[in-house]
Amino acid sequence: MISEKMTKALNVQLNKEFYSAYLYLGMSTWCADVGYNGSANWFMAQYEEERSHAIKVYNYMLDQGSKIELLTIEQPEIAYDSLLQCFEESLTHEQMMTHSFNELCDQAIKEKDHASYGFFQWFVQEQIEEEASVGEIIAKLKLVGDGNGIFMIDNQLADRKLEDTTGV
Ligand code: FEO
Repeated sequence: MISEKMTKALNVQLNKEFYSAYLYLGMSTWCADVGYNGSANWFMAQYEEERSHAIKVYNYMLDQGSKIELLTIEQPEIAYDSLLQCFEESLTHEQMMTHSFNELCDQAIKEKDHASYGFFQWFVQEQIEEEASVGEIIAKLKLVGDGNGIFMIDNQLADRKLEDTTGV
């Protein structure tokens, strides 16, 4: 059994995960539109990953018998100036998600809610990987600048396959 306050926070987090999925679907759409097909694949895998994050939160709430609310999902941005900007926005978003999980952990500690604290730890670790992988792509894009190297990076991103690590 978790508190009402924690239930509310989990519903907000559930919505943020669905928004993340939607945001990455928008990025995938933009990439496909302008011809960065490898990046479109990468963001589509990211979309699937975020959906599984949402369902992980959803299942936890079900297990805890908490009231699930499916809040409105905000419309995401779907236009970008460059591939670099697209990935930079992705990093900014992931940093916000990391902050969000840190706040959830703080709340769990405050409430002595050990179950939720333990649950959030999976996401805390996941966020480290998410920020690192996007950061790596940004660094490469900055290295190649506006040259043809962008297409080499885009080709590499075509190799990403969805790995479901959530266990949902
Ligand atoms: Fe589910 Fe990328 O945060």
